[in-house]
Amino acid sequence: MHFDERRTHFLRDRLQRRLKECHIDSFYSYYRLLISNQGKEELSRLLENLTVNETSFFRNKAQLDLFHKFILDDILQKKQVRRDYTLRIWSAGCSTGQEPYTIAMLIADALAYYYLRHSLPLPEFSPRPLVPPPWRVEVMASDISYSVLRAGQEGKYSELQMQSVDYSYRLRYFDKVGDRYAVKKAVKELVHFDFHNLKTEYLPQRNDVIFCRNVMMYFDEAEQKRLIEKFYRCLNVDGFLFVGHAESLFGLTNKFAMVHRHNGTAYQRIEVSQ
Ligand SMILES: C[S@@+](CC[C@H](N)C(=O)[O-])C[C@H]1O[C@@H](n2cnc3c(N)ncnc32)[C@H](O)[C@@H]1O
Repeated sequence: MHFDERRTHFLRDRLQRRLKECHIDSFYSYYRLLISNQGKEELSRLLENLTVNETSFFRNKAQLDLFHKFILDDILQKKQVRRDYTLRIWSAGCSTGQEPYTIAMLIADALAYYYLRHSLPLPEFSPRPLVPPPWRVEVMASDISYSVLRAGQEGKYSELQMQSVDYSYRLRYFDKVGDRYAVKKAVKELVHFDFHNLKTEYLPQRNDVIFCRNVMMYFDEAEQKRLIEKFYRCLNVDGFLFVGHAESLFGLTNKFAMVHRHNGTAYQRIEVSQ
């Protein structure tokens, strides 16, 4: 984790909280605890405190419109020609699940609309599946924090967290359970949560699209460059990468081309000869 001058205050504050909880009176003693064998649990507790997990459903509407209306449509058409019916999207740094579930709902809508527009017969299943066979959709959702992964897997959200979800999405993709909204089973089945530290080499491969939004901003420049290089390798040919509104690949790589439409921005992998 990288903390520049703007974030040292945050770091100090979060460390002090942990010192107090552990009844430790110096940073040095706390450091000794962290590097000891008994300190493993405390280290993961500290990590939970240092990650910023802010997220929401349908975050950055313009970008999601670009994904939904143009990029997905293009991918579906090209795949259908090749008779490749698999679609794999990765939400890297998924936090409590709002981003991958938004992606899953958008894919379900895009597929239904694709069939309608091209007058393709939908399979006669009852109830009708979200993903019409032979399509197979996988939304991989990963994070470094176990607690957010657990929350994502649970898939239940408060009224406040649902603020950005309009009623047509609530009606189709959620059930009301007590005072919370639970993501319907069919949507949950499309999303797979898993632990991945983006700083390691072993990361999910063969993705058509990667969303890594509001994560890279917490990495230093060298680490950002390494991550973009890894994303390049984790994407299929012509695949797309989405980064956060305040993030950009400018000056970090020349292996991606910017795609900009109706205020939404994405980056497409450029095929470079090795
Ligand atoms: C601000 S949230 C962004 C959530 C979502 N992508 C969005 O834009 O709404 C950043 C997430 O990145 C995760 N994260 C931070 N460093 C990470 C790393 N090295 N590997 C994987 N996830 C990481 C945090 O745990 C957190 O859940």
